[in-house]
Amino acid sequence: MKDPLLVHHRPQWKTHIGFLLAAVGSAIGLGNIWRFPYLCYKNGGGAFLVPYLIALLVVGIPLMILEIGLGHKMRGSAPASFASISKRWEWLGWWQIIFVMFGIVLYYSVIIAWCFNYFAFSFDLAWVQDPGGFFENFLGKTEEITTPFAIGNIQTLILFSLAVIWFLNWIIVFLGVEKGLERANKLFMPLLFFLILILLAWSIRLQGAHQGLQVYLKPNFDKLREPGVWIDAFSQIFFTLSLGFGIIIAYASYLPKKVQVVRDSLVISIVNCAFSFIAGLVVFSVLGYMASELSLPQGEIGNIVKDPISLSFVVFPKTIGMLPAFSRLFGIMFFGCLVIAGLSSSVSILEAFTAGVVDKFHYSRKAVVSVLAISGFLGGVIFTTQAGIIWLDIVDHFLNKYGLVVGGILECILVAWVYRAFKLRQHINHFSLWKLPAFWDYTVKIAIPLVLGTILVNSLIADITKPYGGYPWTAIILIGRDWLLYTLFFAIVVAAHPWKIEPSTRMLSSEA
Ligand code: ALA
Repeated sequence: MKDPLLVHHRPQWKTHIGFLLAAVGSAIGLGNIWRFPYLCYKNGGGAFLVPYLIALLVVGIPLMILEIGLGHKMRGSAPASFASISKRWEWLGWWQIIFVMFGIVLYYSVIIAWCFNYFAFSFDLAWVQDPGGFFENFLGKTEEITTPFAIGNIQTLILFSLAVIWFLNWIIVFLGVEKGLERANKLFMPLLFFLILILLAWSIRLQGAHQGLQVYLKPNFDKLREPGVWIDAFSQIFFTLSLGFGIIIAYASYLPKKVQVVRDSLVISIVNCAFSFIAGLVVFSVLGYMASELSLPQGEIGNIVKDPISLSFVVFPKTIGMLPAFSRLFGIMFFGCLVIAGLSSSVSILEAFTAGVVDKFHYSRKAVVSVLAISGFLGGVIFTTQAGIIWLDIVDHFLNKYGLVVGGILECILVAWVYRAFKLRQHINHFSLWKLPAFWDYTVKIAIPLVLGTILVNSLIADITKPYGGYPWTAIILIGRDWLLYTLFFAIVVAAHPWKIEPSTRMLSSEA
């Protein structure tokens, strides 16, 4: 019989650091710069760090270990890995990568496209007269667009930059794991760290920075009594660590036999969260500067930050325009960071889906990536219309709060109960110098499903009692709920298709 590893010829990371940088690249994304600082502010400043750290320890790191360990053991994408455990669960892997590829990355790439435009606008600070009006004009937002179904016109500038972003996504993934993803991240990540550190050194020295930092870090522990704060912390941990996306499983499947799962999981999770924290320091120092320039009282800083989008595209640009020196350079670096961070995450989403299709159908990888890039671009067009921002808000809310969380719960049940947590732990410990303690089994078996289940019920109660964002119920049902249901339907259909080569034959034995 042929060696199964040869039958399933699999790409591999050329270097270990290449894998780490790619995984960190997937984790660090728009969510770190665009959403984390805002969530901190909204949820009680420094107090938010408490649920965030708890979410990291209870769910983030244990699930990161699970996903890396599983991808390494099964040597397959999410659908192949889940199918190796039980064919009846294969749909779950498909659902994850389908709603991420045909959901999250569609609008995610549009936000990168906005950042790309703002990067270009920074060269002459095009927004400087009226940042709020400029942004509305850029999106084509008008009073008439009150429901998402009156979509208005496509914004050609955004459409054009979306094409550029998809071209970059395509070329990086098309070139393959080693020549595309690994090389791109070896360039992107050091550049990103360098830029953010310069921005940090620059912003904390601005006059009034301490005022912003106080708003960012001063704990308001009363906030911890609100379930919404905990929901935000746990869903942000999923999004920021790219968990439940099928990405980490696919990336880990390209690892060589000898790996340090525990150490790598800690490195990826900690570097990602430290990056978020630093991005928050930058954003709030700059806001503090603005408050001091405009002589705003500290409480007012909060009133100008309404949502993560306006923070990045209205408030921040406004402040950049007010900087005493080199404001263009600051804008170029800030939006450059967003583009790089966004791209290194969007390519990982494309890779997770590509790996799934190639594993099951054995189509040419290059053909799959090309078809996906075109579909991704076309699917993103709806978010470039005048109602795009409303679609984006609804899809983002439902796919994150429900898709990722439900996927995470089921993933734990599958691995911990059906496959058995101790078996995966044994596999991980066979190669790992840092041993995974037995209580990890209970964390993935009981703690994570319970905690995520509670978060899910609370989200449901909040969304049933009040329409999300005040949008009409029809929009919420037809866009939010149905997006999840259609992707689930497709997942079930694809999973029903037979395998060319049994997925379990690729499994890596820890004994050999
Ligand atoms: N992990 C990526 C982010 O935070 C998706 O943006």
